[in-house]
Amino acid sequence: MALRKRIRPAKQPRPARRLPQALIIGVRKCGTRALLEMLYLHPMVQKASGEVHFFDRDENYALGLEWYRSKMPLSFKGQITIEKSPSYFVTPEVFYYLRYLDIDRTYGFYSSSASQLRAPSRTICSRSRALPSAPAQPALPGHQCQTVPVPKPFVYLAISPDGSIDVAYRPIAISLYHAYLHRWLEVFPREQILVVNGDLLIEDPVPQLRRIEKFLGLEHKIGRKNFYFNETKGFYCLRNDTTDKCLRETKGRKHPRVDPAVVTKLRKFFIQHNQRFYDLVGEDLGWPE
Ligand code: A3P
Repeated sequence: MALRKRIRPAKQPRPARRLPQALIIGVRKCGTRALLEMLYLHPMVQKASGEVHFFDRDENYALGLEWYRSKMPLSFKGQITIEKSPSYFVTPEVFYYLRYLDIDRTYGFYSSSASQLRAPSRTICSRSRALPSAPAQPALPGHQCQTVPVPKPFVYLAISPDGSIDVAYRPIAISLYHAYLHRWLEVFPREQILVVNGDLLIEDPVPQLRRIEKFLGLEHKIGRKNFYFNETKGFYCLRNDTTDKCLRETKGRKHPRVDPAVVTKLRKFFIQHNQRFYDLVGEDLGWPE
């Protein structure tokens, strides 16, 4: 008599919602959407579709990690889930919340200065294997986050009546990267942070994406075949087997002409701040002076 071994059907990999291993954490208006969509061209990347604002909004954080997970896309094991909420970079409460996480994760941020001027824009991403010890207190106890509507005439609001740069004006304030980065460096080791220059991402995305793939431990998959330059838009558009798209018209807008004297003034103002940022990251990003 022959006994036939019962053959179990091969286990099919099941997709699940996973907490992100990578975050794009800022700064707004600096190409965060472009970065996320470009990374999503990679078959091993899944993205949260909207900005979840889990770590920077009390009301969201109060809903708990399972709520956060429910906002994530389905992914297969081995795929990397990425979320972008550009205000993470500048919101001190983020650190307070991050210290409660004990999972391996990846963090990222993407930043720029005087972006309305299309002045230097920069990208920064960070990666974390293990959560380092977090500060016992929020980085700035009692700090209140200010929400200021995005202004129309940047120049008039950036320059005070006495002709000086208004550092309280939000687009200027959030462009002082060193003021925010040093807090991230208190929580995450430098090697967990990757700095990507946003200007370079606009000019030629592939080399920047190669760096990011390496940083994330991904095989190189995103290449020239995934981009074509759209002359009308003046930016690269994206394609792969399932996608062929440019970013929405709110991304890559026509910028008003800015008085060159103002641009000079802003550039001069940013020299020392940029230098402080370079010192922190140990890298000269070569933003124009
Ligand atoms: P502008 O619309 O001011 O030119 P964010 O997604 O963080 O809001 O950033 C928007 C910025 O992304 C745009 O700012 C644009 O400069 C930049 N960007 C980078 N690559 C782009 C691309 N391929 N298509 C459109 N915009 C891109």
